[in-house]
Amino acid sequence: MTDTALQRALDLLTDPPADPDVGKGYLDLLGRDESTPKNTGAIQKAWASPVGSMLYDRAQLLNRRLIAASRPPIDWLRIPAGGTALDVGCGPGNITAALARAAGPDGLALGVDISEPMLARAVQAEAGRQVGFLRADAQRLPFRDETFDAATSLAVFQLIPDPVAALSEMVRVLRPGGRIAIMVPTPGPANSFAFLARGGARWFAEDELGDMFETLGLTGVRTKTHGFIEWVRGQRP
Ligand SMILES: C[S@@+](CC[C@H](N)C(=O)[O-])C[C@H]1O[C@@H](n2cnc3c(N)ncnc32)[C@H](O)[C@@H]1O
Repeated sequence: MTDTALQRALDLLTDPPADPDVGKGYLDLLGRDESTPKNTGAIQKAWASPVGSMLYDRAQLLNRRLIAASRPPIDWLRIPAGGTALDVGCGPGNITAALARAAGPDGLALGVDISEPMLARAVQAEAGRQVGFLRADAQRLPFRDETFDAATSLAVFQLIPDPVAALSEMVRVLRPGGRIAIMVPTPGPANSFAFLARGGARWFAEDELGDMFETLGLTGVRTKTHGFIEWVRGQRP
């Protein structure tokens, strides 16, 4: 491996593999950890399939073009020049790439996901010297403490069986002063999307994620709901 984002990622791992599996263009660490709880619902099954990941990829591009609230708050994250950023549940990887652009030519952005088809799309579209992808579970991130200057996760926490574990992991790997922004879908006005819970997505009560942020010691916590989207932001002191 030359000086790629994956080589740089290996230096950030708690327990780097002796023989890294990068044959698919991402670093696959999931096979080493089967102990985290799994989402067996239909929605995650779709995101773990080639057709579902392709449909999601197209839909999210259109969605982000049309709905400003679905775009990540890149400026607010204040990623320093040459900094390191994390995208949890990166899907097709375009948010990861946007984080890397914000970090400038010496920066690094890493995307983590459990879905092989999503990671394949991410690698094909976005991987490069500053953008790398890893297959790992959000509930047990493979990185060392205090590694990232900023962390984000868009439309993922509703699928994670243990969201407290995932948020704790994001806080653990964030440097002091680093910022976190998380977006989750909401069932919307009049609970229009409430039926999606049958597909394995959970809904967070108003303030549930904000309270989680505060319990984990994040400061300046802000929650904002725009229609079907909720954003929660905070900073590690
Ligand atoms: C709706 S997609 C969002 C993708 C991307 N964040 C975006 O906004 O375009 C949800 C993604 O979360 C991933 N995911 C679900 N559970 C996960 C977990 N426990 N750890 C890591 N990724 C997970 C799925 O595989 C899927 O790619």
